[in-house]
Amino acid sequence: MTLKASTRGGIPPFIVMDVMRAAAERAASGADVLHLEVGQPSTPAPSGVIAAAERALRGDILGYTDALGVPALREALARHYRERHDIDLDPQRVVVTTGSSGAFLLSFLAAFDAGDRIGLATPAYPAYRNILKALDLVPVELEAGPAERYQATVDLVRRAPLDGLIVASPANPTGTMLRAEELADLARYCETAGIRLVSDEIYHGIGYGPEEATALAFSQSAIIVNSFSKYFSMTGWRLGWMVVPMSLLRAVECLAQNFFISPPALSQHAALAAFECREELDRNVARYRENRDLLLAELPKAGFDRFAPADGAFYLYADVGHLTNDSAEFCRRMLHDIGVAVTPGIDFDPGRGRGTLRISFAGSTATMAEAARRLKSWRR
Ligand SMILES: Cc1ncc(COP(=O)(O)O)c(C=O)c1O
Repeated sequence: MTLKASTRGGIPPFIVMDVMRAAAERAASGADVLHLEVGQPSTPAPSGVIAAAERALRGDILGYTDALGVPALREALARHYRERHDIDLDPQRVVVTTGSSGAFLLSFLAAFDAGDRIGLATPAYPAYRNILKALDLVPVELEAGPAERYQATVDLVRRAPLDGLIVASPANPTGTMLRAEELADLARYCETAGIRLVSDEIYHGIGYGPEEATALAFSQSAIIVNSFSKYFSMTGWRLGWMVVPMSLLRAVECLAQNFFISPPALSQHAALAAFECREELDRNVARYRENRDLLLAELPKAGFDRFAPADGAFYLYADVGHLTNDSAEFCRRMLHDIGVAVTPGIDFDPGRGRGTLRISFAGSTATMAEAARRLKSWRR
């Protein structure tokens, strides 16, 4: 007898993970692969974090912690908002999570009911859409282009009846940012229209010009999601956080207790040291900036000359519609011919992504220079 499998589990793959596997297989067979597909820092956690982890390993039993996170870390995160954004935040509202991925699950479950409609500007981080579908929520794609700098606008949001809206600034895959006034307008509109705003601020700290704003400055009902995975270079430590309105706190706590019991204890103790490591972390950002400048100067010579404005994060989102209408095949060929791995746009925008690519510049500057050299000779 064939047993049924749920339709909720039938979500699409996260294609970048499949690309990473193909690149790893190629590297394992001895080929020289340049990884411009990975969406993570190429650096370890800062040394202060590693030292704190060593101390915790020796000195702490590392059992479960409070489901909302260890109080010292929640307090440190509240101080972070005072220092970075001049915002007074009650540490009670800070919830430590298993990566921002855990925060999405908790926030979507706490704020929405099955069938609720959640807007997101495409191209977008694919897990938003896929997690929403798995939870029987309805992702509503707000098609954004160069005119909107690939971000949601009040105009786009107004067009569709929505229960929630996810924004990301800087965004993955485009790197574009919402200006403070734009985020404020969206936050205000959402409050008046009864739309729950979820602001993904995971790439905060990695910016190349525009001032970064947090939705916390403009809305008391928004859910703020952030993570130690990107600026703090602690991707595999699986630690993130959210700031929730008091009215959702107990629901989030009960969900967290039952789903996760607690976020990883070792990572939490180690992360306490992360706020003292800014010098080391800012050096990573300086390298990202150098990589970005190098690629923006060199890639046009290889025919890649149409990019979304890369205000932050570590991605270039390239329009390659003049080179291919099948980005997946184009990426496979690039990997096969010259060992350069990048991600096809279909991961982020199933329709228009056939003509786009995401190039990650989180690696070393030498890797970027070599990738540019290979791409130029490939396209000659
Ligand atoms: C925009 C965005 N949000 C969330 C995540 C998930 O990150 P994590 O669960 O490691 O915090 C990622 C990962 O690449 C991302 O790009």
